[in-house]
Amino acid sequence: MSLIRVETDQLLVEQTSYDKAQPALQKFIADMDADRSSFFHLPARSSWAQEIERLQPSLAQRMPEVDTFIHLGIGGSSLGAETIIRALAPVKAPTFHFLDNIDPDHLWDVLEQTAPARTLVYAVTKSGTTMETLSQLIFIYQWLEKHLGAETAKKHLVFCTDPDKGALRQLAGQWNVPTFDIPTNLGGRFSALGPVGLFPALVAGIDCKGLLRGAYEYRENFLKQISEKQVPAAVDLAYRLVQHYLRHDRNITVLMPYSQKLKCLSSWFTQLWAESLGKGEKGMTPIPATGATDQHSILQLLRDGPHDKVVGFVEIMGFQHLLELKWQGPRLDAFEAVSGITLNQLMDAEFNATRQVLTNNKRPYFTVSLPRLNANTLGQLLYFFEVLTAVAGYCLEIDPFDQPGVEEGKKLTQERIRACKKNQVT
Ligand code: PA5
Repeated sequence: MSLIRVETDQLLVEQTSYDKAQPALQKFIADMDADRSSFFHLPARSSWAQEIERLQPSLAQRMPEVDTFIHLGIGGSSLGAETIIRALAPVKAPTFHFLDNIDPDHLWDVLEQTAPARTLVYAVTKSGTTMETLSQLIFIYQWLEKHLGAETAKKHLVFCTDPDKGALRQLAGQWNVPTFDIPTNLGGRFSALGPVGLFPALVAGIDCKGLLRGAYEYRENFLKQISEKQVPAAVDLAYRLVQHYLRHDRNITVLMPYSQKLKCLSSWFTQLWAESLGKGEKGMTPIPATGATDQHSILQLLRDGPHDKVVGFVEIMGFQHLLELKWQGPRLDAFEAVSGITLNQLMDAEFNATRQVLTNNKRPYFTVSLPRLNANTLGQLLYFFEVLTAVAGYCLEIDPFDQPGVEEGKKLTQERIRACKKNQVT
């Protein structure tokens, strides 16, 4: 077991003592034990193996011919799954489309380049009623039906939703569509390591057990530290980020993994952080970034802008491939400068240069380091950020697991659509 490492010595508030962490931590653990949200104990209590066994016969009929996987879902029903796929899917995996928007032109373009006969559609909605997801499902089903006929079209569908409630669950029963259960108390943005993310991972050929194992190891270590009266890194960081916000007005959190494969992690984190913590007139605004790309975008602001940010880096210490640069063209200084090194060395230099810029200018940051990017470390990383976010919610004394703003948006959209239909009729 090699755990991800969290370095916090460039934060500007002192390390969290066990006593300081106690109130939030105790409440968090008590709520997790009472199943307030099942994300925390999920790695130890995951029903993934049973779910796969239950659905295996019907999935087997759907899987062999798949070269395109269309994931329908929005927010927490999409971003965690996409993060896993973009980080770990092997090059030979099917093509994955994450349709988390209802842009008609985009949907059209995706379907134009897709063969219906070799497409698997995974519709994910916890509530089973989200309009964006259901309307995409309607359109894609029409497309499948047109090309394949009604009976075959249904064989290209797999669903993931609440075990009992919602329209998608009802449709699953009527059409006999294999359907994964999202535990009732597992909120969308905390569900990456449930079937929302694991089924796409399975289709891609990613080690699902490894993802769960990583999260499990992180949880074991977390609980062990608490039992030894130590402050786990996720708790220390949550507490200190909240202190930066409450005491120093640093109300912006930038997440900047130095990895193209983790670009989507920043978007997933943005949703997790914003939707969990933005409540009761409190919250820290997340900004997604990617290194080294955004050194040429956001770094100037991080260095010289207002003192309202804390930056989080994610570092992969060992990339899978070592790419050597050997320039044999005309003698030009700028080309010679990067010849004789590896791209890996350049990435490392860029990463450390950015951190140095922040250190030189007394801008606070933390770094999460992964020895390598694989199923185990990604499982740990996702779980770490989930715990970090939930505990930050407890430190802020808000409920990190609800999302009344999102629900209001859904309700008002439904009302507008009803009004729109009424106008069409009259
Ligand atoms: O994290 C959340 O709870 C939300 O972002 C939901 O995932 C999002 O609104 C989609 O909801 P549903 O899964 O019910 O379609």
